[in-house]
Amino acid sequence: MGVQIDCLFPAPGSDLSDEQLSALYDRDDREAPWLRVNFVSSVDGAATVDGVSGGLGGDADHRVFDLLRELTDVVIVGAGTVRGEGYGPMVLPPASVSRRVSRGLAPHPVFAIVSSRLDLDPSSRIFTDAPVRPIVVTTDAAPRDRRDALSAVADILIAGDSRLDPARLVAGLAERGLPQQHCEGGPSLFGTMLAAGVVNELCLTVSPQLVAGEAGRIITGDLASPRDLALGHVLASGDTLLLRYERR
Ligand SMILES: NC(=O)c1ccc[n+]([C@@H]2O[C@H](COP(=O)([O-])OP(=O)(O)OC[C@H]3O[C@@H](n4cnc5c(N)ncnc54)[C@H](OP(=O)(O)O)[C@@H]3O)[C@@H](O)[C@H]2O)c1
Repeated sequence: MGVQIDCLFPAPGSDLSDEQLSALYDRDDREAPWLRVNFVSSVDGAATVDGVSGGLGGDADHRVFDLLRELTDVVIVGAGTVRGEGYGPMVLPPASVSRRVSRGLAPHPVFAIVSSRLDLDPSSRIFTDAPVRPIVVTTDAAPRDRRDALSAVADILIAGDSRLDPARLVAGLAERGLPQQHCEGGPSLFGTMLAAGVVNELCLTVSPQLVAGEAGRIITGDLASPRDLALGHVLASGDTLLLRYERR
C-alpha cells in the first residue's frame, strides 16, 4: 500500500487498502469492450508544467496511475506523449504482475502506440525490451517503409484509411482479445476518441496547483457539443482529488 487515499463519494472510507482501491476501478464484466482515459490536470486546467505532466502528478496520482495499468488488457498512448514523456517499455512491477497472474490476466498489458507518421524508432527500448510485443496503431496512409520497419518489432493495427477511426481502434484491439482498454493520453488522441464517441470513462487527478500560462488542456480539438458525464467516485489524498466519471 502506498500513500493514503480516502473515499469521499459514494461510500466514505479512509486509508483505502490496495484491494479497496482496486475494487473502485475494477470492472465486473471484463469481456465487454471498455475504454478508460486517465489524465492529471492542475486546478486551473493545465495538462502540463514545462511541457510534461510529471510536475502535476504526486504520490496519489502515481498510485492510481499504476493501478490502472494493472487492471487493463492494453495501454493506449499517442505517439506525441510517448515521445514527449520519454516512455520506455510497458513493464509492470513484480507485485502488479503477480496480482494480475493470480487473477488470470496476462503478466503485462500490451502497449499500443497510436501514430499516423510512424516517427517511432524500431530499435528503441519500447520495442526491444517489451515483455509483450507492442501494437502500433496507424492508418493505411502511413509511410510504407516505416510501417515495414516497425512490423519487425510490433504488430501493426490499421485503424483507418487516411485518418484514424477510433471505433476501428477499439474494435481491433477487442478482436485481439484486449477488451479492457486504458488510454494515458495525450490530448490530441483523447480529442479524437471523444469526438468519435468511443470513450466510456475519464479518470482525472486534480493536482492542487495553479499553473496559468500557455499550457494546454487535457483535450485538443473541437466537439459539436459538450459531453455530459456521470460522477463515479471522488477520492482524496491530502489536497489532491482523484475523480472518476463515466459517459452519460
Ligand atoms: N496531463 C496529462 O495527464 C497528460 C497525459 C498525456 C500527455 N500529456 C501531455 O500532452 C502533450 C502531448 O500532447 P499531444 O496532443 O501531442 O499528445 P498525443 O495525442 O499523445 O500525441 C499526438 C501524436 O500522437 C499521434 N496521434 C494522436 N492522435 C492521433 C490520431 N487521432 N490519429 C493519428 N495519430 C494520432 C500522432 O503521432 P505522429 O505524429 O507520430 O503521427 C500525433 O502527432 C505532452 O506535453 C504531454 O506531456 C499530458
